[in-house]
Amino acid sequence: MIKAVRGTRDLLPPDTELWNFVDRKVRQVFARYNYHEIRTPVFESTELFARGVGEETDIVSKEMFTWEDKARAASEKTQTLTLRPENTAGVVRSYIEHELGRSGLLQKLYYIGPQFRRERPQKGRYRQFFQIGAEVLGPASAGSELPIRDAELLDMLTALLEAVGLKGWTLFLNSVGCVNCRPGYNQALREALAGVKDQLCDDCQRRAETNPLRVLDCKVPADQPIIEKLPKIADYLDADCREHFAQVRSMLDTLGIPYQVNERMVRGLDYYTRTTFEFTHGELGAQSAVLGGGRYDGLSEQLGGPKAPGIGFAIGEDRLVLALQAQHAQAVASLKAFVVPLGKGMNSHALLLAQELRAEGIAVDVSDESFRLKKSFETAEKLGATYAILVGENEVQADAFAVKNLKTGEQTTVIRAELLAYLIN
Ligand code: HAM
Repeated sequence: MIKAVRGTRDLLPPDTELWNFVDRKVRQVFARYNYHEIRTPVFESTELFARGVGEETDIVSKEMFTWEDKARAASEKTQTLTLRPENTAGVVRSYIEHELGRSGLLQKLYYIGPQFRRERPQKGRYRQFFQIGAEVLGPASAGSELPIRDAELLDMLTALLEAVGLKGWTLFLNSVGCVNCRPGYNQALREALAGVKDQLCDDCQRRAETNPLRVLDCKVPADQPIIEKLPKIADYLDADCREHFAQVRSMLDTLGIPYQVNERMVRGLDYYTRTTFEFTHGELGAQSAVLGGGRYDGLSEQLGGPKAPGIGFAIGEDRLVLALQAQHAQAVASLKAFVVPLGKGMNSHALLLAQELRAEGIAVDVSDESFRLKKSFETAEKLGATYAILVGENEVQADAFAVKNLKTGEQTTVIRAELLAYLIN
């Protein structure tokens, strides 16, 4: 038997109803905040992620699905491509390529789509997973750097979580500084690490030299007591970063959005500056981060583009759906009617009736004239239909149908002209 590849999975009905419910809420809520959809390719050149996300991150150094894509014609070059492990780099690449900053306006963009990371699969962690993300970026003159953007984005997130009905989340917030203050912090980390790095894992020993901030992502239990004692970034923020962070927090307070400052949270991607955040949920166990995000004021320049500060987030949709399921959330699409052709030659009459009702927006399914009535009723009940509509020769001639309410058992004859009104009342 050929099975789905390790770390990938099929999403089946009725679970897909819940996924679609979430997608619908995302589109409704994001539209209210004036966000518009962007769709970028599922694969990009590897260099985009190496430069955007960072060579020393776990994502780039261990988890990418990368391949040599051979030239197929003399006009093509062999290139190294990667299935996107995240979508922020792709959005910023697209922003640069299409010169979206030229309008002078903020770009408020969102996406829903699959991402790929070669992680060790477990509940809530897959090799193909789905993200719902949003990015707001633009020229500084459009206000893209201002703390109001951070607060508005977090407000949108809480509105979305409310709309989908997720309860019991915690928002962790931090500031990771900017190009001015990060070097001072990196230096302090290097110095602190110099004395202890021999006791750390191989990855951390290397990172202590190349990118000390990434030591803070280490998950090796034995390293944690040492990492706990390292300097905190909060003590190295410059005055502007402190003020920016204070303003974000003050707006969140006014909006009534609860948060906890977590000075250890640096997030696993290199592009972050200033505000970073994660929402966690208790039902998710080890993979408790439902979503994460933050500011990336230098990313566009790093990718060869113009200055375009921005902030964004990505929700792990698999995890959001798991958390909703743990709350027993269900979104079952209800089947209104099961049309039952009775006897030879009735299939086309049944299909015609179903076609008319579907055109009116009613969810309808159809049986087959060769099935016995008892079997059709049983099927209708298994499908959760509210009504069974019988289509036999007498009904067709009279242009009136026997309609059975499967919930109450009641059966009445309804003329065709009144059928629609009867079903929706
Ligand atoms: P990230 O923290 O790497 O950030 O991923 C965001 C979310 O995606 C996580 O909180 C988690 O819910 C989900 N996720 C990540 N890996 C997996 C996996 N293997 N299986 C299931 N879910 C997963 C980013 O990707 C950034 N691009 C977010 C961002 C946007 N920052 C600024 N703009």
